[in-house]
Amino acid sequence: MAAISGVGLSWRSKVSERPSTKKKPSRSSSTTIRLCVSSPRIKMTVSVEKKQFSIQKSEEIFNAAKELMPGGVNSPVRAFKSVGGQPIVIDSVKGSHMWDVDGNEYIDYVGSWGPAIIGHADDKVLAALAETMKKGTSFGAPCALENDLAEMVISAVPSIEMVRFVNSGTEACMGVLRLARAFTSRAKIIKFEGCYHGHADPFLVKAGSGVATLGLPDSPGVPRAATIDTLTSPYNDISTVENLFNTHKGEIAAVILEAVVGNSGFITPKPDFLNALRRITKENGALLIFDEVMTGFRLAYGGAQEYFGVTPDLTTLGKIIGGGLPVGAYGGRREIMEMVAPAGPMYQAGTLSGNPLAMTAGIHTLRRLKEPGSYEHLDKITGELIRGILDAGKNAGHEISGGYISGMFGFFFTEGPVYSFDDAKKSDTAKFAKFYRGMLEEGVYFAPSQFEAGFTSLAHTSEDIQRTIAAAEKVFRNI
Ligand SMILES: Cc1ncc(COP(=O)(O)O)c(C=O)c1O
Repeated sequence: MAAISGVGLSWRSKVSERPSTKKKPSRSSSTTIRLCVSSPRIKMTVSVEKKQFSIQKSEEIFNAAKELMPGGVNSPVRAFKSVGGQPIVIDSVKGSHMWDVDGNEYIDYVGSWGPAIIGHADDKVLAALAETMKKGTSFGAPCALENDLAEMVISAVPSIEMVRFVNSGTEACMGVLRLARAFTSRAKIIKFEGCYHGHADPFLVKAGSGVATLGLPDSPGVPRAATIDTLTSPYNDISTVENLFNTHKGEIAAVILEAVVGNSGFITPKPDFLNALRRITKENGALLIFDEVMTGFRLAYGGAQEYFGVTPDLTTLGKIIGGGLPVGAYGGRREIMEMVAPAGPMYQAGTLSGNPLAMTAGIHTLRRLKEPGSYEHLDKITGELIRGILDAGKNAGHEISGGYISGMFGFFFTEGPVYSFDDAKKSDTAKFAKFYRGMLEEGVYFAPSQFEAGFTSLAHTSEDIQRTIAAAEKVFRNI
């Protein structure tokens, strides 16, 4: 694990001037070339002006969107509320880069919030999707591709002996909660402050991420009855978990958590936190659920459970296993999964679940990830990135801490260490917002919230990282 906080680092990036922006062939150039031609003898004056960062088209489109969709978006954090200013409207993505509708190019560290681990719009994934599409887009009936992805997931993830595909991480967490309650015949669950498990009612309690970003304590519309059985504990706090089990003996169905938190920024478990949870749940006849929607296939091919060597009873997945198409999954021990209908009595269903397009994108994404060297690459470039950012911040006199594991990282504008959501909230979010806007203008796209993790991909290069660090050095000096 590579959690770095408050440590004086000697690593230095080799920073040159900001390299010229990579060009995408069909896009407008970032320089303006004026040719002045006069006769009879032809004289040419060429003046090159750096294009000003402008997001005028984004503004127009987003203003129109606000009349059409609540807040102009279909998922809240995209609206840039916590960093202020104008969200950029994306036109296209490829590899580690993306382009907005104004023609600005960005190095992308959001990766569609995680799925794009092999890089955006991978040629092989696109070709496979085109082939699958020739046969149709949805069957609503069994198809062999479901078996292929299921076998890949089962052989990769230690806890999963059987799997059910759904359409989003939210759906996966809803399903797994019902299953845990059905299997144990108990109602209560423990979740951790700052962990996000999708937007189903029982989980919208101290749910980090978007909720924290908007400053809403919980969401109106969630009835008390829906959350009455949701118990919460600070992350990394075993004594609170023990107290909850003592107070609610025989009532707790499951403990659910992000084994590495990505929805309050990037927070790692203290040594032995996960082992202690494994022990306590076992002793109390409760299930341990790892929500690996974000960490699955990202921290390691077998997810956080492989990385930390702790096997939960149930696991949720999403994001990467759909390769950029809508997907989710939950799985676990066979005896538990056989409770799910129609093998067992616990009902859960989905019109588009296991559809051939999502299965295809997932299969080809996992195949690429399984190639030798994938996780070594993620580790190398993400380490380089986070060390460079922390160094740059400290050299410019800022309090900053952060860390990474494999292709997942984060940093906070606080000295750290950050072990819980309360620690994360000590971060100077106003400074983060300034940093964020500065980086955007330098062509670097981070998640628009201090309380979100960042992601790298197999498509990120050392050049991307060096450009990002150079940009960070410049922006840190100006905030
Ligand atoms: C850990 C975790 N669980 C669940 C979800 C919900 O997934 P989705 O947005 O696909 O519904 C997310 C989304 O970011 C997540 O990070």
